[in-house]
Formats: sequence, structure tokens, C-alpha cells
Amino acid sequence: MANPRRNSQSLENPLQNQNISSWVMQLLKKPQAFPLLLSIFMFLSWFFFRFLHSSHFPAHNNNHNHKWSHHYDEMANLVKFKSGFPSLIVKDKRGWLLNPISLALDSRLKGGAVSCTSIHLGEIQPGAMRGNHRHHTCNETFVIWGAKTLFRLENNHVGGKGYAEMIIGVDEVAVAASPSGTAHALVNVDPIRSAFFIGCQDSIINYNSTMSDFNVWKDL
Ligand SMILES: *[C@@H]1O[C@H](CO)[C@@H](O)[C@H](O)[C@H]1NC(C)=O
Ligand SMILES: *[C@@H]1O[C@H](CO)[C@@H](O)[C@H](O)[C@H]1NC(C)=O
Repeated sequence: MANPRRNSQSLENPLQNQNISSWVMQLLKKPQAFPLLLSIFMFLSWFFFRFLHSSHFPAHNNNHNHKWSHHYDEMANLVKFKSGFPSLIVKDKRGWLLNPISLALDSRLKGGAVSCTSIHLGEIQPGAMRGNHRHHTCNETFVIWGAKTLFRLENNHVGGKGYAEMIIGVDEVAVAASPSGTAHALVNVDPIRSAFFIGCQDSIINYNSTMSDFNVWKDL
């Protein structure tokens, strides 16, 4: 060592404030300093990325088209979320959780149910379809997940077809709204998996009545 006197003095009183910086400087000049610095650097990097990750999470609540958060489709009146982290509907390691009514309202979906007077929870087997009907006396809000699923919603603003469609991926959860008088259909286009859905309606539907139209689209 170039300065053995100073070095030993520093090591004798490592906790004295005025000597700590010189003690650190001496330590860093030693060959053992490299692995130590590497460890510190790695810890700081880990800490930095962990912190960035979690601090970004709530910061994008209102970013409606951010890739990892969610995808909003105005024509299909539907919003899709990743079912795995990072996602707005995944707050912790247990998985996703959502309130369809408040999430539909927060996501700018138009004309969905604002209360659930009647709830349907169901499965759609691969290749099977539900809906393809139009209720004239209720607004409905859906949650759809579990398989690659096609959601079709009547929309007269879509020229030619009169409907908008959106595919929900196997790793996604969708919330969609179908206002009263709007036809909707859910088709499981997945070869293996079952799709699941919740339909929240703001009135009790009498399926006998003429207040619903059935088999609206012939091509499904
Ligand atoms: C459906 O929503 C509309 C407003 O979007 C509301 O006026 C109506 O009362 C709701 N319920 C039914 C059953 O139509
Ligand atoms: C629906 O129709 C069936 C027969 O077509 C009848 O037995 C049933 O009572 C009806 N239900 C309601 C709620 O009107």
C-alpha cells in the first residue's frame, strides 16, 4: 500500500465520520473491491427495476391503449385486459379480479347495465355460441374469459356489416356492454378451451316474450 499509516489508521476507526470516505476509498483500491462493487451494482439494478415496475403499475390507470394495460375498442363497446401481470385487473399474485359495472363505466363503455338485476354465469364449449339475440328491455354488461372468443355487437355506424367484432385472446379478460336494443353474440372460436362469461342485466328478461329477437345473424 502506498500509504500504510493512513490505511491502518482508517481501519482502526472505521466508524468515525471523517474517516469513512477515505476508508471506503482504500477498500475500493483492493482487488476484493470488484466482486463487492458488482454485487452492489446488481442489487441496485434489481431494486431499480422492481421499483419502476411497481411504480408504473398504478400510474397508467387512465391510459386506455397502453399495450400491457388494456385495449379499448369503441365500435365493439368492449375493453380487454391481460389476465396476467402486468395488467390493470391484476393487483397481486393471486390473479385477476374486477367489478364489471365500475370497470365498464371507468372504461368509457356506453349503455351497459349499471345494476345487476339478473346475472347469468356460463360456459361456452369450443365451437359453440351464445347470444345472437337482441333484448329490447335490458342493458347488459358482459365479462368474457378463458378461451379465444369472438364478441360481435350490433353497430349501425359500421358501414356495410352493421356490426363490430373483437377477438378476445386466451390470456385476456374482456368487459363489454350491449345497450338495450343492440344484438350481441359470443362465439368460442378456440379449438380446445371452454370460454366463460357473466352477463349482468338491469331487468328480468322474459325469454317467451316478443321483447327479444333471436337468431339475429345467419352467418354465425
Ligand atoms: C338502460 O339504459 C338506459 C340509458 O342508457 C336507461 O334509460 C334505461 O332505463 C336502462 N334500462 C333499461 C331496462 O332499459
Ligand atoms: C313461456 O312459455 C311456456 C310455453 O311456451 C309456458 O309454459 C311458460 O309458462 C311461459 N313462461 C312465461 C314466463 O311466460
